[in-house]
Amino acid sequence: MNLFDVYPLYNVTPVSAKGSQVIDDKVQEYLDFYGGHAVISIGHSHPHYVRRIKEQLDKIAFYSNAVQNPLQGELAEKLVQLSNCTDYNLFLCNSGAEANENALKLASFYTNKSRVIAFNNGFHGRTSAAVAATDNTAINAPINKQQKVTFLAFNDIEAFTIEIEKDDVCAVILEAVQGVGGLDEPTTEFYQKIEALCKKHNVVLIADEVQSGYGRTGEFFAYQHHNIKPDIVTIAKGMGNGFPVGGVLIQEKIKASYGMLGTTFGGNHLACVACLAVLEVIEQEDLIRNAAKMNSYFLQKAATIPQIKKVKGRGLMLGLQFDFEVGELRKKLIYNQFVFTGGAKDKTLLRILPALNITTALIDVFFDALQAELKEL
Ligand SMILES: Cc1ncc(COP(=O)(O)O)c(C=O)c1O
Repeated sequence: MNLFDVYPLYNVTPVSAKGSQVIDDKVQEYLDFYGGHAVISIGHSHPHYVRRIKEQLDKIAFYSNAVQNPLQGELAEKLVQLSNCTDYNLFLCNSGAEANENALKLASFYTNKSRVIAFNNGFHGRTSAAVAATDNTAINAPINKQQKVTFLAFNDIEAFTIEIEKDDVCAVILEAVQGVGGLDEPTTEFYQKIEALCKKHNVVLIADEVQSGYGRTGEFFAYQHHNIKPDIVTIAKGMGNGFPVGGVLIQEKIKASYGMLGTTFGGNHLACVACLAVLEVIEQEDLIRNAAKMNSYFLQKAATIPQIKKVKGRGLMLGLQFDFEVGELRKKLIYNQFVFTGGAKDKTLLRILPALNITTALIDVFFDALQAELKEL
């Protein structure tokens, strides 16, 4: 049987990894400035993370959500401690798309409405309602196109007001800093206005923090830069540092009932321990502050390279804007310099998503590699 061929692959076969280093089957070392799509938050194979998972594996890896699992409560508590998200409840699932799917479903249950407002260039996953709220027709099948979604531009409060006043909207979903779309974000003023309009019209405001959450932007959640309080926050990528997991933080005003949401695997013992280990490392190593600190150093270095026209994003969720398409540059960085970076919908943007414990020395290595390849272009 062949694999269903949906991914264009680089010719690299990682076999081990440690911190920000990935090693392939030819024992070549790579610098990981992409974290496998922003997943690696605390570095590959962090010793605390490995120990916690191994110890849990010797006890119990999985039982379903039909029995007590105190690890879920511990995770919720730790999450409140680090994120400051008091008065939310937590639902655990398995991926970013599933988190958004559940968030949109909850919004529809809560408001008894069904249209969604999403934003141009937004990405929320590849499943039913999540992909319908994703601004990419190529990945929406006819079955997805049945969902009612209206796409708007960031910062166009007039268009937003017209749409929300139609009173058929259940949810507004947005990434506080767009990932795949290319690191754009609305103004604080826009955020605060849409928050107020959502309240006024009984619409659920969903912050998709699947990529921007977990300290990546220098705050636990990226929306926290704007002094707003979404009704629902979705999380995934950095949450498990590679362990497949997702979550939905749901304001207490949205009440649960048995069977409203559910999953076989979500919140299993191993997943909870992986997530607890990530939060423990973020706390012990002060990684949110490190993300903010490394951002300053990264910006200083970027300012010395004339080919970089602009740096977009926040913290360690960054995009380097060039005046050419970066596909070839990314390949050269991998094959000549052994550095992983990312692309975006905007083809002129090189996406940078290192682990939150990246150092100035590794940022220097990255910029030396980038400069060497820019000279060759
Ligand atoms: C902002 C955002 N939301 C949702 C998703 C979907 O997450 P997953 O691939 O885990 O389903 C992604 C993935 O890139 C994302 O960046």
